[in-house]
Amino acid sequence: MKDVKTAPFVRDMCKMTANMYRLGWDERNGGNISFMLEEDQVKEYLDIDRPVRNIPMDFDASFLAGKIFIVTGTGKYFKNVIDDPENNLGIIRVAQDGKSIDLLWGYEDGGRPTSELPAHFMSHIERLKVDPDHRVVMHCHCTNVVAMTFIHDLDEREFTRTLWRMCTECMVVFPDGISVLPWMLCGNDEIGRATAEKMKEFRLVVWAAHGIFGTGKDLDEAFGLIETVEKAAELYMKIAHLPIKQSITDQQLWIVADAFGNTPREGFLEPRQ
Ligand code: 13P
Ligand code: ZN
Repeated sequence: MKDVKTAPFVRDMCKMTANMYRLGWDERNGGNISFMLEEDQVKEYLDIDRPVRNIPMDFDASFLAGKIFIVTGTGKYFKNVIDDPENNLGIIRVAQDGKSIDLLWGYEDGGRPTSELPAHFMSHIERLKVDPDHRVVMHCHCTNVVAMTFIHDLDEREFTRTLWRMCTECMVVFPDGISVLPWMLCGNDEIGRATAEKMKEFRLVVWAAHGIFGTGKDLDEAFGLIETVEKAAELYMKIAHLPIKQSITDQQLWIVADAFGNTPREGFLEPRQ
């Protein structure tokens, strides 16, 4: 068996968490990532028939039965993952009844997966239903997106339109827009269900006064979505209080969408002229 710490999926989680920490989006234990792995990939490094321990869950993830994920640990600091992956990360497999997980590797100090596991698993379920290539759910506290939720309308159409107008690339990267949930208590099934409900239609969901959830087929795609939204939110926070002389119009957003062959979310732009 090869050393699991050398596996590309462990290395990529280490690099990603270090990068996100450096960007200031994951203070203390803020943020969490779950990444669905292929069984064959994992078998090169671990005996998947010999779990280290079983961890019960109090929600139903039977849709994901047998699926394997690498997940950041609850209470763990993104900044520490790179030097200590075996304590800060875990590789888990959802049990056949969907009510517990088998730990295959990691959380060596007795830890557990992120407290946001309900939001992650319920989001994986909904994204997999609409996109079989989906693999990653990423949550972080990106500063400007959170700031924006204090001063901007939380209506998802208005929130998306403002972000689209901040830089031309937004329409290229997230023509499907972004959803926004009002403030809710985090770390439980209720916010998990509300997030997953939005994930039926959106790849990005903002939690007001908290952070963002981004999804994708790999770590780069989920990160790239969040990075682009955060950049647009940063621009908004820099200009919102200043007199605006010009902006990108809806007609120009249509031109961008057409040029890149993208379909903006229905009803979010004013009709073409
Ligand atoms: P965990 O440490 O449980 O992953 O929680 C961090 C967080 O961001 C909660 O929303
Ligand atoms: Zn959080």
